[in-house]
Amino acid sequence: MGDLEGMDGIAAAYEGLETAFADDAALQAYRRSALERHAAQADLVGALLPDDAAVLEIGTGNGRLLIDLAQRGRLASALGVDLAHSRIAFAERWAQDVGAEQLRFAAGDALAMDLGEAAAWDAAVVITAALAYFDAVVPGSARRMLGRLREGLKPGGRLVLELYPHPSWRRMLDDAEDGRARLWSELPEGDPWRFYLSDLHLDRDTGVLTHRKTFVHRTTGEIDEGRREALRLYSTEELTTLLGEAGFADVETFAGWDGAPYDDGELLVVTARRAD
Ligand SMILES: C[S@@+](CC[C@H](N)C(=O)[O-])C[C@H]1O[C@@H](n2cnc3c(N)ncnc32)[C@H](O)[C@@H]1O
Repeated sequence: MGDLEGMDGIAAAYEGLETAFADDAALQAYRRSALERHAAQADLVGALLPDDAAVLEIGTGNGRLLIDLAQRGRLASALGVDLAHSRIAFAERWAQDVGAEQLRFAAGDALAMDLGEAAAWDAAVVITAALAYFDAVVPGSARRMLGRLREGLKPGGRLVLELYPHPSWRRMLDDAEDGRARLWSELPEGDPWRFYLSDLHLDRDTGVLTHRKTFVHRTTGEIDEGRREALRLYSTEELTTLLGEAGFADVETFAGWDGAPYDDGELLVVTARRAD
């Protein structure tokens, strides 16, 4: 991420993630693997949708969830938005290649861009912790984002969130006097980088976790210390309050994509309904 802060920093961290493929076979393998690894997400979201659904996805990345739902025949229309232009270009080409003409993708900041008509969507989806970026950049903006989603949903429309609450880090940082800790991790053998150092800081006033990563190269020993991520950590209580304030009801929390109840673990899936 270098020195870039805020929204520009997030965009820079994700730009170019899906640009270098040796050939078409490599591209197809990447797409296949993205769908296979995350099929459980499409299973759960698909189960919540009516027939011929209209779905809005914030932080859609490479578009894999919408592509998957379209290929399962669940979508009449969808809009996926993401800050990273290269990811949106990747998603558009993927949709074109599989003939998913009902999918539309757009690059920009979901807080500011056109998300369609009011009461247009059957479901709004914000997965892989994308909601946690908002308050970390602009305090109060997650509430605004959820308000925009509520406005875009049809009455009774569904919201699906996935968050990483990092409960074990949170406990460790709560115990640390200054809210700071450093951890070394070893990467799997195929990775060109062997170790990375996580420099963690939890701001107790804002609930924002800052994670700076320093990588050590497997063969050259080169050091890469350019990556920094900031995420707002929500407890289930904070999230339920936030959703209520934004106009959502029937909040349910799950431990993963298989529908088991939330157990204070590392993965939190939340479903809610637009309250009327
Ligand atoms: C962890 S990635 C997840 C991508 C995708 N949901 C997936 O599962 O592969 C988070 C994504 O959120 C996007 N993002 C973060 N803040 C955003 C914002 N304000 N508006 C639109 N996209 C945003 C980032 O560009 C990034 O692609």
